[in-house]
Amino acid sequence: MKAVTVIASPRRNGNCKRIVDYIAEGIEENGGSNEIFFVDDMNIKGCQACKACKNMEKPTKCIINDDFRVIMDKVEKSDAFIFAVPNYFGEINAQGHLFMDRFYSMTKTTPNQLTNYPKCIFVHTYGASAGHYDEYINKRAKVFSSIGCNLIEVLSVGENKPTSGDCDELIEHARSLGRKL
Ligand SMILES: Cc1cc2nc3c(=O)[nH]c(=O)nc-3n(C[C@H](O)[C@H](O)[C@H](O)COP(=O)(O)O)c2cc1C
Repeated sequence: MKAVTVIASPRRNGNCKRIVDYIAEGIEENGGSNEIFFVDDMNIKGCQACKACKNMEKPTKCIINDDFRVIMDKVEKSDAFIFAVPNYFGEINAQGHLFMDRFYSMTKTTPNQLTNYPKCIFVHTYGASAGHYDEYINKRAKVFSSIGCNLIEVLSVGENKPTSGDCDELIEHARSLGRKL
């Protein structure tokens, strides 16, 4: 079992990364592996809205040849895709938007949906009380199904957990998710 993870947080050991690490523990218990990429380390341009990806007469992947393509080509060869993003001012942060906007080139109205149907976990962390952003993040999560992912969980984590402590249940849940991939 091979998983690819994209972390949109700039924090190398923040809440998103910690949760991904717990999921990875579950993956590794089952003999699998997880490869992590931080959006901040990648060369990724914003969607240029050129709509080349929507031209069904001349099918093409996103014509911007950068690290988005590199990562999504890896996802296409993997069994699972994990995407972790923090909330900034009520929405996913800028790095999350940058990456997710490029999914426009892979939706149902393009020839570029993922054909391997990877299991997908969408992690969203924030400081507000647990569940505060559920409606927002569940709507955003639909994009993953639209690009061909098999979305198995939207993990919405409030109260600055797990770094704020008191999170045994969360840790066990994250590990069990990893075991399911
Ligand atoms: C610029 C900025 C804006 C934030 N805005 C919000 C917010 O509007 N609502 C909220 O609940 N948390 C907000 N937070 C808190 C983060 O979402 C939270 O600490 C998150 O778990 C950080 O994840 P990370 O440690 O992986 O970066 C904000 C944090 C920053 C740095």
